[in-house]
Amino acid sequence: MIKKVKVEDLKIGVYIHDFNCKGNDGLIYIDQNLFQNENVIDILKSWNIKEVYIDTERGLDVNSSKAPSKAGRATAENGQTRKVERPQVPLARELQSAKHVTQDAIQFMQRMNQQVMEGKLPDVHSSYALANRMYESINRNSDALLLLTRMRTKDEYTIYHSINVSSLVINMCNYCQVSESQTLDLAVGALFHDIGKAVVPQGILTKPARLTQEEYSEMQLHVEHSAKLLSQVKGLPLECYDIALHHHERYDGNGYPHGLKKNEISYAAQLTGVCDVYDAITSDRCYKLGMDAVVGLTEIYEGSGISFSKEITYDFIQSVGIYPVGTTVVLANGKSGVVVSSTEDMMRPIVQVIYDEKKKERIQPLKIDLSKTEDVIVSYGDPKKFGFTSKQLLKKFLYSQS
Ligand SMILES: [Fe+2]
Ligand SMILES: [Fe+2]
Repeated sequence: MIKKVKVEDLKIGVYIHDFNCKGNDGLIYIDQNLFQNENVIDILKSWNIKEVYIDTERGLDVNSSKAPSKAGRATAENGQTRKVERPQVPLARELQSAKHVTQDAIQFMQRMNQQVMEGKLPDVHSSYALANRMYESINRNSDALLLLTRMRTKDEYTIYHSINVSSLVINMCNYCQVSESQTLDLAVGALFHDIGKAVVPQGILTKPARLTQEEYSEMQLHVEHSAKLLSQVKGLPLECYDIALHHHERYDGNGYPHGLKKNEISYAAQLTGVCDVYDAITSDRCYKLGMDAVVGLTEIYEGSGISFSKEITYDFIQSVGIYPVGTTVVLANGKSGVVVSSTEDMMRPIVQVIYDEKKKERIQPLKIDLSKTEDVIVSYGDPKKFGFTSKQLLKKFLYSQS
C-alpha cells in the first residue's frame, strides 16, 4: 500500500515510493529507494521535504514493530559506528599499491567523463569497486594515496580533483569513525560530486583568468547538472545526489544553489564540501598555483563557523593532521626538512631533514622519526630555502621510495 508519512517518522527498512520532491523544472530528482540509513532524514529535511510516500508492500511500515531488514545498517546514536583499527603498513610498501589504485582511478574518471559527454550514465558497480580499493589503501596507510593524488599538473586538475576529494572524504570518515558502508557511499558521492562539469563548456572550466559573472553563473549550474545526471543512475544512495547538489552550500548561508544554512546542510554535503575546498586551495589550477597544505589548512581554519561548522572544520584538520605529508618544518636542532610520513603522534611525524638553518645550506638528507627522538618541530619552514617547491620535494621523496 502506498501511504504518505512524515519524514521524522521514517525508519530503517521502509521503502520510499516517492520522495515528494520536484526541482524547479518539475522533474523528480531522486529515485525510489529502500531507506537504509538514518542520515537520510537529515538530508530530506535539508531538501525541505516534510512528507514522503512509502510502499508498505516493498518495505516496512513506519509503525511496524518488525526488526529492520538486513539492508538496514548498524549505526550508533549519531549515525556512525566504531571501526576496527587495522595495522598500518609502511608508506614505501603502500605507495606501490596506491600507485595502481591511482592509475585505475584516473582511467575510471576519464572513462566516466567520456561516457557523460556521450550521454551515457556512469557505472555504479565499478565506482564502488574503486571506492573500496581506495578505502583499503587508506586503511593500510593513509599517507600513500593522499600523497600520490597531490602529484599532478594543473592540466590534470579535473580528473585528480574528484579522486583526491574522495580520498580526503575516506580519510575524514576514518577519523570520525563512520561505518565502512557509509564511508563507501560518501566516497562514491565524492567521486561523482562534480560529474555535471562534464557538460559545462570546456572554455569556462579551463579559463586561465577570473570568470565573468555570466561564466561563473554557468559554472555554478554544474551542481544541478550533476544532480540531474545522478538521478538517472539506478542504485545510488541518496547521499550521492545530496553531495552533488549541496557540496557548495556554506554554513553561513552564502553558498549555492539553495543558500542552505547551518544544519540545513547534511553531514555528507558539509564533509564533502570541506574536502572539496581544501583540494581546490592546494591544487595548481589553470588560473593559479596551488598553495601549500599549511596555507590550505589555515584557510579552512579561518572558515570555521563561516563556511563550515566548527565541528566539521575541527574534524577535517584533525584528519589531515597539523603537519600533513609534504609540509616543510623547522626542528629544535636547527635543521629543517619535509614531513614524509605521519606517526601515531600527530605532533611528531617523520621528517626528511635536508637543510641546516644556521649554516643556511643544504645537507645530506636524513630521515628522523620524531616519535622516537627527543627532537620536536618548532615552526613551519619555507620550502623556497631548499631551492625546491614543496611539490618538487615530495616528488623527490616519492622517487626515493620506489
Ligand atoms: Fe563542485
Ligand atoms: Fe569539486
